[in-house]
Amino acid sequence: MDEKKVMLSGIQPSGDLHLGNYLGAIKNWAARAEEFDCYYFMADMHTITVRQTPADLRRRTLEQLAQYIACGLDPEKNTLFIQSHVPQHAELGWVLNCYTMFGELSRMTQFKDKSAKHKDNINGGLFTYPALMAADILLYQPDFVPVGEDQKQHVELTRNIVQRFNGIYDDVFKMPEPYIPKAGARVMGLTAPDSKMSKSIPEGCVFLMEKPEDIQRKFKRAITDSDTEHPVRYDPANKPGVANLMNIYSAITGKSFQEIETEFAGQGYGKFKPAVGEAVIETLRPIREEASRILADKAYLESVYKAGAEKASYVANKTLRKVYKKVGFVPR
Ligand code: TYM
Repeated sequence: MDEKKVMLSGIQPSGDLHLGNYLGAIKNWAARAEEFDCYYFMADMHTITVRQTPADLRRRTLEQLAQYIACGLDPEKNTLFIQSHVPQHAELGWVLNCYTMFGELSRMTQFKDKSAKHKDNINGGLFTYPALMAADILLYQPDFVPVGEDQKQHVELTRNIVQRFNGIYDDVFKMPEPYIPKAGARVMGLTAPDSKMSKSIPEGCVFLMEKPEDIQRKFKRAITDSDTEHPVRYDPANKPGVANLMNIYSAITGKSFQEIETEFAGQGYGKFKPAVGEAVIETLRPIREEASRILADKAYLESVYKAGAEKASYVANKTLRKVYKKVGFVPR
């Protein structure tokens, strides 16, 4: 009997993967393949809540898969799949829409942010997105959902849905827990340390596939502060830029903030910023090289996502059948 606990997470292929995605999510996934039964997917269905260019979406979905593998997600040990290849996501998504309240959805930060950004396209999908995300999660009955800080609210909503649904129909879903890393859960933009790193501000965002010289340039230009001595000190309230760089350095090297302060004592930002850049470059170099190699092998990628969808569908279907029965649908 397989007694392993289950882990599941996904990323939208709406842009190129960046350091926030890596430190907040993927790095945490890759380390856990032996311990857990793991499911990771490309959340392509979520991306169309905002208009996408079809050819770009297709390309990025495959690039994301190559990058997942290059980040250490071995397809033999992790189930890697494309969300739209497993139709149970849309099916359970509909059911859960009917168990998610308008008020709950109205409170979601991501909805508020995205509807402010895309005023001309505040569609129903953007609003009900968290019900689909709850379906993504609950189909696989995971114990843990490893995400960055910004997705915690959606996982909390999923937990409310579980409580509501199980309250009506007995124990159908396992209660999932968000699993958030200590360092790297909220990587901020390098040019604006008051907002999270995201592809929408490319100058402050470090992409996984970016050239080393471009990465180093971004770190050298990272916003710090005008503290005259340039002391490397962890003080997020007064020195958010430095705190963010320390957070990145800590997530990459495993060093504590205290250790980092000691390492750079008396050296100032002029030494610290390129050192963080160098650490990031060296971490991303093998990932970039491996991802390029994998991406060239389309037949291999296809075999991975086909096998992944087959395994995911099998598991997802079991949950969906149970749910359909509970709510009163006639079995097929
Ligand atoms: P998405 O695609 O915006 O982000 C993917 C993952 O990266 C994390 N992340 C960050 N972590 C730290 N610092 C940052 N600056 C940063 N930016 C992004 C996110 O927290 C996330 O873990 N709704 C989800 C995708 C999704 C999903 C799911 C996740 C769909 N279904 C089911 C888990 C389970 C999203 O938009 O994440």
